[in-house]
Amino acid sequence: MAQIFVDTAKIEEIREAASWGILDGVTTNPSLMFRAGTANRKEQTLKIVEIVRGSVSAEVISTDAAGMIKEAREILSWSEYVYVKIPIIPEGLKAMNVISRWPNGRINATLVFSANQAFLAAKAGASYASIFVGRLDDAGLDGIEVVRETRAVFDNYALDCQVLAASIRNTYHVTQSLLAGADILTMPYAVLQKMISSPFTDAGLKKFLEDWEKVAGK
Ligand code: E4P
Repeated sequence: MAQIFVDTAKIEEIREAASWGILDGVTTNPSLMFRAGTANRKEQTLKIVEIVRGSVSAEVISTDAAGMIKEAREILSWSEYVYVKIPIIPEGLKAMNVISRWPNGRINATLVFSANQAFLAAKAGASYASIFVGRLDDAGLDGIEVVRETRAVFDNYALDCQVLAASIRNTYHVTQSLLAGADILTMPYAVLQKMISSPFTDAGLKKFLEDWEKVAGK
């Protein structure tokens, strides 16, 4: 079963999505923390963990391996639910190789834009490879195709890394990511809302209730 994560650090959105009973986790990044109006990464991450009791990703700020490893040690100590997001750059790969050997070394490799980068992240021991579907499409490339290629590469070599479709912008991306075999989809709260809404459902429900009122109100 594919997992659904919400891509936000806003507590109200996470609380509402969690109340629907279909939420498996949350992804955050520095921009999402900014949009939630907080620079207290630890406090916000722990508030989120309390609500979802599932995978919650928090991102490092350092760009050198030593700094990433230091931050990861702290971030991963916050909770057994927390994954540390490391960018797929050479220093990030060095850091992933160290962190993935720790007993609690849960890594979400971020800013992945190709199946080659995802393959390297998997080799370095990442648990998730976050493919930025929307940003690839913004650049005139095919984000879903990268999800499909990564799925095939991971399956070819039985790699122990999950394909995470990130930077999802619309419900079309959701359906296509599911068809392409993503293990996890992370999406903004607004897209999650759109997944369940249809004017046909609303109109159908309205008609059922009107007809029931006609017969029951007799
Ligand atoms: C999630 O892990 C990513 O940081 C996020 O999906 C990026 O989305 P954006 O391209 O909409 O910023």
